[in-house]
Amino acid sequence: MTEKSSRLPGFYQLSLEQRLEMVADWAGLTAEECQHLSHIGLPASQADKMIENTLGTFELPLGIAVNFLVNGRDYLIPMAVEEPSVLAAVSHAAKLIREGGGFHTSSTDPVMIGQIQVLDMPDMEAAMVALAANKQQLMDEANACSQSIVKRGGGARDIEIRPFPQTAVGPMLVVHLLYDTRDAMGANAINTAVEAIAPLVADLTDGRTNLRILSNLTDRRLATARCTIPAASLAKHGISGHEAAQFIAEANEFAVVDSYRAATHNKGIMNGIDAVCLATGNDWRAIEAGAHAYAARNGRYSALTDWHVDANGDLSGEITLPMAVGIVGGATKVHPVAKVALKILGVDSAAELGEVMACVGLAQNLAAIKALATVGIQKGHMRMHARQVALAAGAVDGQVQRIADLLVQEQNIRVDRAKELLSVISNR
Ligand code: MEV
Repeated sequence: MTEKSSRLPGFYQLSLEQRLEMVADWAGLTAEECQHLSHIGLPASQADKMIENTLGTFELPLGIAVNFLVNGRDYLIPMAVEEPSVLAAVSHAAKLIREGGGFHTSSTDPVMIGQIQVLDMPDMEAAMVALAANKQQLMDEANACSQSIVKRGGGARDIEIRPFPQTAVGPMLVVHLLYDTRDAMGANAINTAVEAIAPLVADLTDGRTNLRILSNLTDRRLATARCTIPAASLAKHGISGHEAAQFIAEANEFAVVDSYRAATHNKGIMNGIDAVCLATGNDWRAIEAGAHAYAARNGRYSALTDWHVDANGDLSGEITLPMAVGIVGGATKVHPVAKVALKILGVDSAAELGEVMACVGLAQNLAAIKALATVGIQKGHMRMHARQVALAAGAVDGQVQRIADLLVQEQNIRVDRAKELLSVISNR
């Protein structure tokens, strides 16, 4: 796979069948796997085993983002998303980033946090001393309930004790179990572990335990992606590369200082990350919760990215965010399309998946703020919107792009106008 390039010029112009054939060839998909992508999807019978009260399934478009070069290796990125422009934008940004050598990534160990809430302690200081003195026993008990993760090199890493002496319900201790879940997202493992050690926590503190649940602020399980784009690659629309780099850095700073902008800035990042989460059967709500809580970790909600003009005048970008994703467990191995998506990605570990997702977030953000800081976002959006209007007017196949182009040209993107154009074209 290493010698394969994800630079697939003209991929977007191919027919759906041709794209599938190309990706199947790229990733070595079987005929059955292709069928899951093209029409089987998630069978209702399988869906019925996944949740309660099932009626059927809900479909979303699944696309492939191209041009991703991460640590010298090419990736095709499956993304499930309903929003037009996301795939085109992220692929374009990945192409620019490629011109500067691609993405460079790193991550922490996949350490999750399980929380135990302790109340009604006669002596909070003594409770903290007892917990600290018995960390090893607590960790041993946690490890005893999930041998498979421990065998794979995961398991308990530490116990942390966080006092909240004055709360509306009296003094409260929060015990954190830090637990390495390896290639699993690990919600089940960590929840099982905190439930298992809660009685010992109650004994040691002489208190009462209430909640025992993981935290979605997984700030010990972080992924980082970095890139540098040569300023020259950013020159376009009469704006020099240096100007564009400067405008992008200014756009980032807007989101750093202003929470109103940060919410939108980070939403753009999550457009990409959520889409990969969905495609790979991961819990996108957990990733969303973690990302936004992390963005507010310093007491004010801020940008998840940093973009600045470096000493050479080029544009450097970086993102770090919690990335509690898995490649085993959950829907990753139950949903047939998620299985195929993971095969296309070709990642060997949850950490690698998290790092690739951080790259997608960084690229998605670059695409958005580059457009916003130069030509504005509506230009590109309008082209996609025009396609949807053409479809709504009843255009099919080749008519769709033709009508969309005319609507954009006339700057009159309306269904009634699309219908008129359609009847003219159809009567020729
Ligand atoms: C739209 O889905 C996302 C953007 O609003 C992100 C941003 O403003 O950075 C374009």
